[in-house]
Amino acid sequence: MKTLASALFLLLTAGNLQAADPEAGKAAANTCAGCHGAEGISTSPQWPNLAGQKEQYLAKQLMDFKSGKRNDPVMSAMAAPLSDEDIKNIAAYYSSL
Ligand code: HEC
Repeated sequence: MKTLASALFLLLTAGNLQAADPEAGKAAANTCAGCHGAEGISTSPQWPNLAGQKEQYLAKQLMDFKSGKRNDPVMSAMAAPLSDEDIKNIAAYYSSL
């Protein structure tokens, strides 16, 4: 448990060292707007709203889609090409809306 706690601590602090860039996230989120909406409010009941969602939650979901921990035929494919930095920036962007 103690190692798990320190690993989590390292992970969280490492994530904060480099500030995410919401402007870059906006550009990287171009392909997402078709489903999640230009302002992060989706136009279909099938697709979740992302605007105003917590940044860490969004980043975790995208990491989970990318790693296969969370699986969805659409989102797994969307998250696959994103770099860790893209994910951080995109999460910061949607969270800022
Ligand atoms: C073709 C439509 C489509 C596109 C394009 C798309 N998504 Fe999604 N997204 C979905 C669907 C459908 C879900 C719900 C998946 C599920 O049920 O697990 C989802 C879920 C998500 C979630 C999880 C939301 C939550 O509350 O758990 C995030 C974050 C997300 N998408 C981000 C993105 C990003 C970032 C992009 C662009 C790189 C993107 N999506 C592109 C359809 C899309």
